[in-house]
Amino acid sequence: MKLNDVGQPTLDMFAAAVAAAAGAWPLVGSGDKLGVDEAAVNAMRSSLKTADFGGIVVIGEGEKDEAPMLFNGELVGAGMRPEWDIAVDPIDGTALAAEGVEGAVSVIAAAERGKMLDCKDVYYMKKLVTDAAGIGVCDIDMTPTENIIALAAAKEIAVTDLRVAVINKERNRDVIAEVEASGATWVSFDEGDVAMAVAAATGDSGIDMLIGVGGCPEGIVTACAVQILGGHMQGRLAPSNPDELERALDAGYDLEKKLELNDMVWGERFIFVLTGVTDGLLVRGIREGDDGLEVQTFLLDSDLDEGHILDVRVELED
Ligand code: FBP
Repeated sequence: MKLNDVGQPTLDMFAAAVAAAAGAWPLVGSGDKLGVDEAAVNAMRSSLKTADFGGIVVIGEGEKDEAPMLFNGELVGAGMRPEWDIAVDPIDGTALAAEGVEGAVSVIAAAERGKMLDCKDVYYMKKLVTDAAGIGVCDIDMTPTENIIALAAAKEIAVTDLRVAVINKERNRDVIAEVEASGATWVSFDEGDVAMAVAAATGDSGIDMLIGVGGCPEGIVTACAVQILGGHMQGRLAPSNPDELERALDAGYDLEKKLELNDMVWGERFIFVLTGVTDGLLVRGIREGDDGLEVQTFLLDSDLDEGHILDVRVELED
């Protein structure tokens, strides 16, 4: 199927991600993290109000009482029956956008209704993501060293040619030390693991593997892309403190369970849209010209044969 034939849900989600990125743009580099996030959330939500599909936000900005917009459970669309589960991350890498540095994106993803894991009570997830070469080869229960050696062998490259992304957080210190000791290159980044994980699932991105503990909602968003790309992903919920652990146990989550890709999102139809705010691995950041903003988007749809990079111009409001 060609991009011209893409259906309304995908085009509406594309519009929503572009709106969020463009909405945040005036505050990029301002140092105002909350402001950046608020502007993106507002813009994405207004865009989705007129969307020609019905969806329910499964992965959103949090509970209704703390997140007035795009909260978990909010219905989006112009009043149609919800046929889609929606995962939004109006800005992934809020701190990066506020600082005006590389790696901030706007993301929205979707699966069929009832086919997306609702993990709102846990904020963190241990993740393993590779492209298809890692299927049946890499496993979240193996050590980083074992996974690195196994993936290098499957790709028929030297371990020293493997590039492994791990988000640079204290909780990942041991993983990072193992990656470095293995001889593989550690690709360090401070925020924004959706783009890095999706890059790891995309054969030719320069990232071979993503491992370590990052955000749980971001994991579910990522899983939609990995389904479409045919990559490999496993996860395990990883509550980070006693409070979170208690909430997770009260909510009945199985914290031992190895989450396979099909446990995170399942079914036949998936959509994933990622729009650049600042420059990144998958897309360029926004460029501002005299007559508007140039905005670049990476779009995946399970109905399309391949991913697409789309450029649009957005007029600046006076
Ligand atoms: P936000 O932009 O929503 O703050 O998320 C950025 C992010 O780096 C995610 O990409 C990542 O999954 C998560 O935060 C990691 O959480 P933390 O910063 O608490 O370690």
